[in-house]
Amino acid sequence: MRMLLLFFLATIVVSPSQGSDLGLSHQIHLLRPQSGNKFPGLSCLSWRLGVETRNIIGWTTVPKECEGYVGHYMLGYQYREDSKVVTNQAIVYAQSLKLKGDGKDVWVFDIDETTLSNLPYYAEHGFGVQPYNSTLFNQWVITAKAPALPESMKLYKTLLSLGIKVVFLTGRSEEQRTVATNNLNHVGFHTWEKLILRASSYTGKTAVEYKSTERKKLEKNGYRIIGNIGDQWSDLMGTPTGNRTFKLPDPMYYIS
Ligand SMILES: *[C@@H]1O[C@H](CO)[C@@H](O)[C@H](O)[C@H]1NC(C)=O
Ligand SMILES: *[C@@H]1O[C@H](CO)[C@@H](O)[C@H](O)[C@H]1NC(C)=O
Repeated sequence: MRMLLLFFLATIVVSPSQGSDLGLSHQIHLLRPQSGNKFPGLSCLSWRLGVETRNIIGWTTVPKECEGYVGHYMLGYQYREDSKVVTNQAIVYAQSLKLKGDGKDVWVFDIDETTLSNLPYYAEHGFGVQPYNSTLFNQWVITAKAPALPESMKLYKTLLSLGIKVVFLTGRSEEQRTVATNNLNHVGFHTWEKLILRASSYTGKTAVEYKSTERKKLEKNGYRIIGNIGDQWSDLMGTPTGNRTFKLPDPMYYIS
């Protein structure tokens, strides 16, 4: 069947009357990979694209063969460049808004891999190839040493200068409030309207359920969520999402 199709396509390509007039042959050539074998890492790039576009969901660990690829991505320029595209778009959008200035416009930030980076932890644990270990991860969290994501810091400062208030909405548990506060303060996030952590009443609920319930509460209390940024699709789904959502890259883990 595939052979037949190839033969059919080849016939179109070499058929001068149709092909050249419509430019068809040219287009078909362009869709045929030109440069021989795929280069190493291409399949991991496709995997990452699938993750970021939410075509690949529900995964628990990074494919083993992609550890090197994800590690280089996270530690190299591309992760930072990709993050910059997201936050620059957010800044352009925020600057374009005509706000009421009544203090009710808020922007929701997720924390992990959005505001704070756990890259120092993941660099020592296989960049998501190793299964998530809550004991080890919490040992890292309570050190309160997670650095700020520089691009998100720039967005945060811009929003404050525009009179937009910030709400942190995190999957970290309520018991970690002090640690989270200390870590945020320590790296330069000094002010916020609310810091919402996951209460024990949400045990057994998905992140989508928890986060959208909390966003609904915000709106009920008169806030207008004009923007929402996170590294997980579960930060950005459910009702309400906020007027615009911004997805930061994260090929290391998936939260539903
Ligand atoms: C998590 O890591 C600790 C410390 O290395 C280990 O004792 C424990 O068995 C791990 N838990 C799981 C579920 O793998
Ligand atoms: C947010 O969306 C609502 C509903 O579509 C709209 O009425 C409002 O003007 C938007 N807010 C901003 C600041 O664009």
